[in-house]
Amino acid sequence: MNSYVNMGVGAFLGTVFVLMSVSIASEGIFHSEAPEKEGFTIVAEEGTAEAGAGGGGEAAEVDIKPLLLKADASAGAAVFKKCASCHTAEKGGPNKVGPNLWGVVNRPVASHEGFSYSAGMKTFSEGGKVNWDYDHLSFFIEAPKKHVPGTAMGFAGLKKPDERANLIAWLREQADSPAPLPDAAGGAAEGQVAPATESKPAEGQPAPAQ
Ligand code: HEC
Repeated sequence: MNSYVNMGVGAFLGTVFVLMSVSIASEGIFHSEAPEKEGFTIVAEEGTAEAGAGGGGEAAEVDIKPLLLKADASAGAAVFKKCASCHTAEKGGPNKVGPNLWGVVNRPVASHEGFSYSAGMKTFSEGGKVNWDYDHLSFFIEAPKKHVPGTAMGFAGLKKPDERANLIAWLREQADSPAPLPDAAGGAAEGQVAPATESKPAEGQPAPAQ
């Protein structure tokens, strides 16, 4: 009997040994694949960060227009100090590291004379079709490199919506004829798809439920 038990234990241990060898070997295989997987992980993380920071993706930014209505342009002048190392904002001011920003509100993207824009910014401009309206400015300034991939603007971004609103309110005044402020009622629903607003409650309910 004992010998049968011994044989059984021996066979069992042998099996365990084989299984462990296989698992060690396969671990080796997985290790060699690891760099590929990490690549995917990084992509996924970027997506997650974007969704987190932007509140759910490209179009679902904080709507800057209502904030502009109560923005403080003089506070915005102070915020512009963060930009002034690279930008002038006075009329006829020179291009520095970045283009002069006089009249930038509603100016076509990548259109300032004598400034050589990055390929990324030119792509974003869609050949001059896109203007720096309030939404685009807010979107860009919030995280330049994220929202305009390949931009040459080496600036981390202004995360606080209030700060952006103040700054944009001030930039708006740096123009021959400042762009109209968004109107209080329609402003919020215009331009971008505002998620989950109550602007059109009737449209979503074509027929009464049972
Ligand atoms: C480190 C330098 C730097 C800083 C700081 C900086 N910018 Fe820029 N900015 C640039 C460069 C360079 C470009 C051109 C980008 C390109 O071609 O991709 C640019 C482009 C822009 C544009 C697009 C202009 C156009 O003609 O299309 C706007 C708007 C802008 N910046 C606003 C700002 C604001 C507002 C701030 C401060 C919150 C700021 N920038 C801070 C360097 C900077």
